[in-house]
Amino acid sequence: MDVMNAPPLTADAALRVPVALAGREYTIHVGTGLLDRLSDWVAPLRPTSIVVVTDPTVALLYLDRTVHSLSSVARTERFVLAASEEGKNLSAAAQVIDALVAARADRRSVLVALGGGVLGDIAGFAAAIFMRGIRFVQVPTTLLAQVDSSVGGKTGVNHSAGKNLIGAFHQPSVVVADTDLLRTLPPREVSAGLAEILKHGLLADADYFSLVEALLPRLVECDVAALTPVVAQSCAIKAAVVARDERESGDRALLNLGHTFGHAIEALAGYGQWLHGEAVGCGLCLAADLSRRLALIDAADQTRIEDAVAAARLPTRIQGFTRAAAIDAMRGDKKAQAGQIRFILLERIGRATQRVVPAEIVEATLAAGGYA
Ligand SMILES: NC(=O)c1ccc[n+]([C@@H]2O[C@H](COP(=O)([O-])OP(=O)(O)OC[C@H]3O[C@@H](n4cnc5c(N)ncnc54)[C@H](O)[C@@H]3O)[C@@H](O)[C@H]2O)c1
Ligand SMILES: [Zn+2]
Repeated sequence: MDVMNAPPLTADAALRVPVALAGREYTIHVGTGLLDRLSDWVAPLRPTSIVVVTDPTVALLYLDRTVHSLSSVARTERFVLAASEEGKNLSAAAQVIDALVAARADRRSVLVALGGGVLGDIAGFAAAIFMRGIRFVQVPTTLLAQVDSSVGGKTGVNHSAGKNLIGAFHQPSVVVADTDLLRTLPPREVSAGLAEILKHGLLADADYFSLVEALLPRLVECDVAALTPVVAQSCAIKAAVVARDERESGDRALLNLGHTFGHAIEALAGYGQWLHGEAVGCGLCLAADLSRRLALIDAADQTRIEDAVAAARLPTRIQGFTRAAAIDAMRGDKKAQAGQIRFILLERIGRATQRVVPAEIVEATLAAGGYA
């Protein structure tokens, strides 16, 4: 679907991005003013009851409006979870399950996850395991959650041994991404979401990358009119990749462009130091450097990518680590297979590929990136 050339949105229109998973198709609705119309998409699910799970920040901003819209559909209970990346663990998921029990939820209840990726991952995982799986609706409130974590059905929590080590595939019944909600997002979180948006263009669609590049000055300012079609197009790209490979046996790995380096940065710096999107922004620059060293892209493409990352107000370099530590961290990554480090590289802007890369070339990229 070509959402960029869609006619201008009317006040109550939403862009519809279909997610084509055999037997479990669902739609991502993207637009402004959608939160107050949530009942339009939840009513058809005919839930016996609804439990809205959110975090304290989002609760203050948007919980009343959410509950107000949903109360017309079914008895609606609320649960505010003190969600954070540090607290994204089994005990957080257990708290959501306790809340479902307290709300007397049954197999036909619907859980609504209202929040960023942390909240969505925890609540989605609780929905996946409560009574062997109840339906859930994603209402993502960060840019990263709207373009990335709410699409694709991965849910889960961290273990002290690694990020997202515990999880389940559980697709939402519907996703409602109201871009008006992004207006209250801190600028740093907007930039973090832009890292995944740049990634989508780089790995799948050169025209989209050019468009995002041109819109970046408006996107960093959280201009909702510019963000809305971009969110929809990014969802469409991720949805297409996921529809081809729901469980990551092949192409879905391409979504990890910039992430092998990014995960290493997050692990070395300690979680909480850099936002995920910031580590990915830097990871995209390292992946571009590695792709250029392998003569896949040229120096002009590499510069173009670095300029876009900088224009998104993301770090292009994150230093202070050694090459040996970075390589160790990448070998330990959940996605490394049998000690080999597979990288997602760019064949050109708009097309990614997977390769195992010799260690000395990875070292050269890390050295150029300022790693001791
Ligand atoms: N499941 C997946 O496929 C997938 C994909 C990518 C990332 N993730 C996960 O997503 C998480 C990161 O999510 P995130 O970047 O959304 O961070 P987050 O969920 O921590 O949210 C960031 C902060 O923004 C606040 N916030 C949320 N919405 C707001 C709003 N509208 N206005 C003001 N403040 C708001 C939150 O309270 C929080 O403090 C990570 O745990 C990562 O593992 C999952
Ligand atoms: Zn990511």
